[in-house]
Amino acid sequence: MTYERRPGDMTRITTPELAQSFIDDQIEAMREQIGDKKVLLALSGGVDSSVVAALLIKAVGRQLVCVHVNHGLLRKGEPEQVIQVFRNEMNANLIYVDATDRFLDKLAGVTDPEQKRMIIGGEFIQVFAEEARKLDGIEFLAQGTIWPDILESEKGIKAHHNAGGLPEDMKFELVEPVKILFKDEVRVVGKQLGLPDNMVCRQPFPGPGLGVRCPGAITRDRLEAVRESDAILREEFAKNGLEGKVWQYFTVVPDFRSTGVKDGKRAFEWMVIVRAVNTTDAMTATVEPLPYEFMTHLTDRITHEVPGVNRVLYDYTPKPTGTIEYE
Ligand code: XMP
Repeated sequence: MTYERRPGDMTRITTPELAQSFIDDQIEAMREQIGDKKVLLALSGGVDSSVVAALLIKAVGRQLVCVHVNHGLLRKGEPEQVIQVFRNEMNANLIYVDATDRFLDKLAGVTDPEQKRMIIGGEFIQVFAEEARKLDGIEFLAQGTIWPDILESEKGIKAHHNAGGLPEDMKFELVEPVKILFKDEVRVVGKQLGLPDNMVCRQPFPGPGLGVRCPGAITRDRLEAVRESDAILREEFAKNGLEGKVWQYFTVVPDFRSTGVKDGKRAFEWMVIVRAVNTTDAMTATVEPLPYEFMTHLTDRITHEVPGVNRVLYDYTPKPTGTIEYE
């Protein structure tokens, strides 16, 4: 049984049993819809697209073609995890495109946040469309649309971001197996499908990726500093039992250097800003009061392990007046 809209009386999927029953229904429905045709999916490694991929692999196996575009703005270890989980463990038909140079070349010298976002979004569609054109016989496009996306687009809050963007001549029938689910239900289904916890329970991550955490023109050295400091922050959150307790936490490296001293020599280097916030709907947010000892240890690690960084700052600004991201 499939639904175009979430039934008003649908039981919230909170248990493995409810998740399994949803999975069984969807597999049957997708097999019926797709038959022996091929399906294309842009697999970012985020929760929604990962769950859609895992469902489709169960339903139609290698008739699903996943395209993972690495725009060079992903977190440390993300592309590797997508390849490991989907290609190596689930035997998915996965095309991996490392488009890092292409994105960073286009973004070079661009300082305006909106322009940066447009370049990243536009280039993503282009790379994905180019890969799609190389394939024969694709009739379906799978998307990780979820129920709040549909509600928000109906209310005019934001466009149904998944649907648009591909060139006019590329028309596919849509496969949207999680479109009646809320985010927490997608996670329960993902867990039941055997996806790793750190993929299913991951914190929100913006589409333009680390690009919005490298304010101003993105340079490779600052981008690496964001990526490395973010990896250290995530590691320390996990080690100290903060993972899953704080809604979102990340680092930012502004386009601004300050004088410091390292090994007795002047070090004119970047600074890392740490942000950790709690929220329920991302419309407002409060700051997590991170313990002093945690911050001093984190500062010590970042300033010693991340090349080109000599200071760490903590952002105490709630939303409002700050937004969660910096751009
Ligand atoms: P802001 O910065 O508006 O973020 O307080 C609210 C939540 O949305 C996530 N998010 C994005 N933020 N550009 C953004 O600036 C995006 O494309 C985007 N996508 C998601 C953000 O990480 C925060 O959780």
